[in-house]
Amino acid sequence: MKLDDNLVLEIEGGVQSYIPPFPKRAKSQRSLLELLPLYRSNLLSIFDENDYKRRYGRLRILCRELILCNTPDLVQEAFITQHEIFQQKTAQMEQALKPLLDDGLFISYGELWKTRRAAVAPIVHANKVSNFAPIMCETIQEWGDSWCKRKNGDEIDILFEMAELTAEIISRTVFGHKLGRQYTSEIVAGFKEYQENVHQTDLLSMFGFPDWFPRVYRGRIRKPLKRIHTVVDSIIEIHEQNNLKNICSDAMIARLFEAKSEDGRYLTRKAIRNEAIVIFMAGHETTANTLAWTWLNLSKSPRVLKKLYDEIENVIGNRPPTFEDVSKLSYTRYIIEETLRLYPPVPILSRRAIRNGVLEGESYRKGDILMVSPWLLHRNPNVWSHSDSFFPERFDPNIAPKPNKYAYLPFAIGPRICPGLAFGMTETILTIVTLAQRFELSLKAGHKVQAMSRLTLRPGNSLPMLLRHR
Ligand code: HEM
Repeated sequence: MKLDDNLVLEIEGGVQSYIPPFPKRAKSQRSLLELLPLYRSNLLSIFDENDYKRRYGRLRILCRELILCNTPDLVQEAFITQHEIFQQKTAQMEQALKPLLDDGLFISYGELWKTRRAAVAPIVHANKVSNFAPIMCETIQEWGDSWCKRKNGDEIDILFEMAELTAEIISRTVFGHKLGRQYTSEIVAGFKEYQENVHQTDLLSMFGFPDWFPRVYRGRIRKPLKRIHTVVDSIIEIHEQNNLKNICSDAMIARLFEAKSEDGRYLTRKAIRNEAIVIFMAGHETTANTLAWTWLNLSKSPRVLKKLYDEIENVIGNRPPTFEDVSKLSYTRYIIEETLRLYPPVPILSRRAIRNGVLEGESYRKGDILMVSPWLLHRNPNVWSHSDSFFPERFDPNIAPKPNKYAYLPFAIGPRICPGLAFGMTETILTIVTLAQRFELSLKAGHKVQAMSRLTLRPGNSLPMLLRHR
């Protein structure tokens, strides 16, 4: 019995469902030599048809084993039961992010991670989201106002627009909304340049080369790094000068100054900088990609779009949406949950074993790599009915049972689950309804969308759409 078998009746009973784009799947397994260039260009294209149905798999890459877990019970085993062993991020991830985040929580583990998680998670926790929602609403309305100046049929790159919008929101919430555009623009530009030049798929780390071994991209990331660190340092200085305190008093960075670790100590200045950058990085592109994919899915599904408009009409009408509306916008939430199933912004969650152990009756060694892929698991046909179809109703508890929490991982699971889940969902819902009240978007004719994974899963490098006023 699959999670949503009831849907089969709905879909096969004639309800239109749209199949959004995904990379071509090879029919059979390819050799390591064939896989390596694919791994570099688009991580998602390494998977063949069988990988989606696979429960468990192992691949030897020189001296390392790569272990794939692709069912809910194995995810639970790896991320809950064996969390202590599989808590460290991979060398590739560390290589890509250490220059930016240093000891920041996203790539730390062990005692350091515990201390930082305890300090940071409450700042972005669900119960704080209502404080940040007015900033979200204000920024999204400003975005809508800027779109108002465009003519019907004008082309916009929705991936770029959503990246700028979410960067502006996270920047205002982390660093203070009265801070000034010059700071946020500088941070956003620095992040963009950093991402373009860093390689998450660092093959040297994959093959076990040590950190000190020179990597070509390191020269290219120096400039954006300096840019980001200089701005964040100057914001911290502003905060430290009491006479300017009101600029940041409502911002997450102010909460980082107040945060204490379990032993009662305040975070150091460097830790504050690193964690502010972690929140900015983790909360920005993931949300932007979710929004871009949602606009694409809506533009291709007239049935779903009509139901969205009906919900907006019933719950909000023409007034500006607020935080209080979010819990009433259930269909909008299903649309986003379904988009996150089909396009999880973090398509691969990988970890390095910190000691030897046993999984699925087979032993593994310290340094072996565990891979749980929300991309594969969310499209596993043994777990989800019509797994490639866009069908938001599968998240409606009146139609299908609630998905198993280990089968649906857009925000990961276990102790390292995304602490910004409620923040990200609220921001995404508010953005979709606020802009859909005023505009309709359709994909530019002839544009071929490709699901690509670099640091995150994106619809290629741009997503051109045509804007129409409603
Ligand atoms: C749709 C939006 C988002 C998605 C899909 C998402 C997804 C994820 C995932 C999958 C992870 C775990 C990565 C891993 O284990 O390798 C993660 C971690 C994290 N996320 Fe999010 N995220 C989103 C939004 C946000 C927002 C808005 C914030 C902050 C305001 C945030 C803050 C964090 C932090 C701090 C971590 C690191 C947690 C740790 O290592 O303990 N995220 N996120």
